[in-house]
Amino acid sequence: MDNNKTDRKIGTGHHWQLEQDETGIAWLTLDVVGSGANVLSTEVLLELDRVLDPLVGAPPRGLVILSAKKSGFIAGADVTEFTDFQGEAQAREHIRKAGPIFNKLENLSCPTVAMIHGFCLGGGLELALSCRYRLAEEAPCTRLGLPEVKLGIHPGFGGTVRLNRLIGHLQGLGMMLTGRTLNAKAARKLGLVDRTAPRRHLKRAAVSLIEHPPLLQRAGFWQRVAGFPGVRALVASYLHRQVAVRAPVDHYPAPHALIDLWQRWAGDPQEMFSQEANSVARLFNGESARSLIRLFTLREQMKGVGKGSDFRPKRLHVIGAGVMGGDIAAWAALNGMVVTLHDQSQENISRALVRANKLYRKKLKDPYLVRDALDRLIPDTQGVGVGKADVVIEAIFENLIAKQSLFREVEKRLKPGALLATNTSSIPLEEIASVLEHPRRLVGLHFFNPVAKMPLLEVVTCRKEQTDPAAVAAACGFAVTVDRLPLVVKSGPGFLINRILLPYLLEAVTLVAEGVDPRAVDRAALRFGMPMGPIALADQVGLDISLSVAEILATHLGRPVPTLLRERVELGCRGKKSDCGFYRYKKGKAIATEFKGKRPPPEDLMDRLILPMINEAVACLREGVVADPDGLDGGIVFGTGFAPFRGGPMAWVATRGVDNLLKRLKVLEMRHGHRFKADAGWNDPKLLAWIGQREKNHEKTHTSTDPTLEGGYPVRLVSGAG
Ligand code: NAI
Repeated sequence: MDNNKTDRKIGTGHHWQLEQDETGIAWLTLDVVGSGANVLSTEVLLELDRVLDPLVGAPPRGLVILSAKKSGFIAGADVTEFTDFQGEAQAREHIRKAGPIFNKLENLSCPTVAMIHGFCLGGGLELALSCRYRLAEEAPCTRLGLPEVKLGIHPGFGGTVRLNRLIGHLQGLGMMLTGRTLNAKAARKLGLVDRTAPRRHLKRAAVSLIEHPPLLQRAGFWQRVAGFPGVRALVASYLHRQVAVRAPVDHYPAPHALIDLWQRWAGDPQEMFSQEANSVARLFNGESARSLIRLFTLREQMKGVGKGSDFRPKRLHVIGAGVMGGDIAAWAALNGMVVTLHDQSQENISRALVRANKLYRKKLKDPYLVRDALDRLIPDTQGVGVGKADVVIEAIFENLIAKQSLFREVEKRLKPGALLATNTSSIPLEEIASVLEHPRRLVGLHFFNPVAKMPLLEVVTCRKEQTDPAAVAAACGFAVTVDRLPLVVKSGPGFLINRILLPYLLEAVTLVAEGVDPRAVDRAALRFGMPMGPIALADQVGLDISLSVAEILATHLGRPVPTLLRERVELGCRGKKSDCGFYRYKKGKAIATEFKGKRPPPEDLMDRLILPMINEAVACLREGVVADPDGLDGGIVFGTGFAPFRGGPMAWVATRGVDNLLKRLKVLEMRHGHRFKADAGWNDPKLLAWIGQREKNHEKTHTSTDPTLEGGYPVRLVSGAG
């Protein structure tokens, strides 16, 4: 943001610029060098410390802190620094650097204002909380929050004290425990910001806050009551129970550590500042935070692949308005693209538009924004949108002949340079591309169901006749345009995600066929940390769809399709959509199971579910379906929800040890047969080196102890994977 009111530089740093205008107000602008967004690295924080020094002795009339970045105020602390800590003591030393600097800002004798636009998250909001006032731009892109729990930690730069003091214990904890972000209006309502203004009035509003300082924002009486000593224990116990429903303490210790910290120290803010750092340092050293932070960086890397492409398409044409095509079209229009949606059935287009309307109302809320998004989604019964589109995606029935005949016709009408894609989930790309005049231009853009919830987009490329690299780059650019994470994979049965998921689903059905209660099977998967049990998942996807994918993959994976799956489909039990699969459903909720378990869950139940998935992941790496273990881990977590706190299948292998898992596979193979035979890829030196490196890191952090904290308050940590 430019500052046309300033006239005199009074301190210049590398990242911070301090200028004073003719009225004596100082404007401190952050513009982190070499980065698209402002993040608080150690270097940036130490420079802030130096820039603030002269203001302590000679305070200006007021100080306004703002950002020069388009993307927003400050996106948070520099996460890349978090991955280098060698143990708890080092993590604590790092976190403690910010405390005195934020205190210095808080204790300045002049009024201070954080002038916020765009992202103001994590350490960025903690800095803003150290200012006397906060002013936020009234715009949909303004987001304020402390989302640290999503990284397996909690605020560590004083946020746990300052947020609660400002908006109250319950509201503050609510924000920090969920990691949710607020827009300007909601933040104002909660008392998190003092004023809001449109962008063109922001500076005037900042000056007004300095010239006519309002009373300081403080939490109301009832909000403070929750912090009274007697009440705190009750509230903490209630919060632990609530949080444990979605974040069990063994899997996600961070929110529980935050509740413990608050319960013990909320009555003594000075001590809480200090204990906050200790608690975060402990969390950093745990498996959960390390996994979640790594996934955050993997997510950024995947986004980076898309940002590397300069293809920024504006118009999309989708053919097939079924479950997938309709939702892909709606999602793309939500993300700003102009979309034409074609189907041979007008009724299906109408159904897709009804779903889109519902999605927009939920996501956008503002009726004008909903109207604009609906305007961008254009029904196209004649298919005339093909010739104008930058991207054309086919999402008709999973039938090779139908797809081939469609592509033959569509290719002729494409505009030059347009990206041509299929959303097929199982047909090898080569077979569809074989009918094209330019087969190398076709890519797979494999979205996952439900489109609005699953962040991954598999970009599928041909093996034999290699897909044009320009088309692959364009596909990654498209992914970023529609806010999905691209992962480039090689064509093959089930590509990456379905191929790895299928052995898990089939083994679950096999267990039910052996007489194990479906609920026991699902519970084991939930205990591992999967978002949904495999039997419930098969019902959700549809047993008919699961069967057809299984039949396509069965030969390749060398595992039979359980007869029970076929029988269910023949009986018309197609899963949730027919109110009956392995469970019975009423109004979309499972009410009972169709199978009463005849035998108790076997002792190797969890291994039987998880290890086939891991073994298949190793096979995919050996066959080069995905480039490396990092891509595989990111893909599986963002495509299936695989226990994020375990960091993905390969990170999990590193915590359990290759030898240990091979021994277990051997036992399972002897007990249950060939389908558990370890893949040859377990011997790949490159994979072993990658795992070896991770194993070493794991040991380094987990054996480091911190004598100064012995007897400290109990933060529950995960000490290894379960
Ligand atoms: P669907 O059966 O819900 O929809 C297919 C639509 O295509 C129907 O509306 C039909 O009228 C239309 N259609 C068929 N032939 C057409 C033609 N020649 N021209 C215009 N429209 C035509 O199918 P669904 O589930 O949406 O799947 C579509 C594709 O997406 C398939 O290739 C499937 O493998 C893939 N996919 C499906 C997923 C799922 O969970 N259902 C997940 C990921 C990919």
